[in-house]
Amino acid sequence: MRLNGEIEEDEEEEKVAKSLNSQTYSTGIGFPQLQSQNLVVGYALTSKKKKSFLQPKLIRLAWNKGIFFVAIDLKRPLSDQGPFDVVLHKLSGKDWCNIIEDYRQKHPEVTVLDPPDAIEHLHNRQSMLQDVADLNLSDCHGKVGVPRQLVISKDPSSIPHEVNKAGLQLPLVVKPLVVDGSAKSHELFLAYDQFSLAELEPPLVLQEFVNHGGILFKVYIVGEIIKVVRRFSLPNFSKHELEKVAGVFRFPRVSSASASADDADLEPSVAEHPPLLLLEKLARELRRRLGLRLFNIDIIREHGTRDVFYVIDINYFPEQA
Ligand SMILES: Nc1ncnc2c1ncn2[C@@H]1O[C@H](COP(=O)(O)OP(=O)(O)O)[C@@H](O)[C@H]1O
Ligand SMILES: [Mg+2]
Repeated sequence: MRLNGEIEEDEEEEKVAKSLNSQTYSTGIGFPQLQSQNLVVGYALTSKKKKSFLQPKLIRLAWNKGIFFVAIDLKRPLSDQGPFDVVLHKLSGKDWCNIIEDYRQKHPEVTVLDPPDAIEHLHNRQSMLQDVADLNLSDCHGKVGVPRQLVISKDPSSIPHEVNKAGLQLPLVVKPLVVDGSAKSHELFLAYDQFSLAELEPPLVLQEFVNHGGILFKVYIVGEIIKVVRRFSLPNFSKHELEKVAGVFRFPRVSSASASADDADLEPSVAEHPPLLLLEKLARELRRRLGLRLFNIDIIREHGTRDVFYVIDINYFPEQA
């Protein structure tokens, strides 16, 4: 039985906590609020996640507000522990999902963050963006969509034909379809021609590269609180470059490896955060449709536009303020 979710956590998570000197927007109350009584949060996290999230400062701050974190003992039945007001978890594995789902059914009075099947929805790069694609946010202080993309389930030799048929524009960002927290699931490639794609290993998502001035916005959603940080990302490419280069190239995790771009000297049209009203609407809709309360959205602005945005990634319970 695999309960302790020994997966390799996103390196990114370590970095984000350090880059939170940006704007926080709070629009209301997302979690059970306490006046006089205490709140007990049972947590089930990997040791790495526990170390990065449950830092002494947070524990102290919570304590002062009457919020207490209690480790869930994975060797004992969950229902014998507690009572908890909130259960916070980020572990992998079918067994854990079954335990937490069963607990949710039997304890409707406990706020479980979040339902395992809703989290599972984000482990596939196609399903994670489907809800954004289904949204109609075209007239809300900006437009939000997802880059055009194609899923290749098997037979890489069919890729050149599939790309042509779908009319996808090069270059393409190649991403593993499944995101399971492993380093491999974050191994991304840039493909400058469709023929080299036949070398890659499906299942994959092929996504049109969108020029975005080298800046990415990470939008953290915690209940009804929204926080935005700016990060460096891949630079724009030119048509000229596309004519000169062929092949498929692996690229590093650029947005996580580099420092925060919050204080960088950037062109205002690139640096400006997406409109708050747009983010609020997007967050509200996604919270509802995904059934999640702790997640983050990677969003980019199409270069040369003021208000055309693309969501390229959604992650569950990353590090945040
Ligand atoms: N469609 C795209 N257009 C331009 N850049 C992209 C696109 N998709 C991803 N990127 C770049 O690649 C990085 C990683 O992509 P992402 O989908 O967030 O994968 P990961 O799961 O590894 O975080 C992004 O932060 C961004 O810099
Ligand atoms: Mg990402």
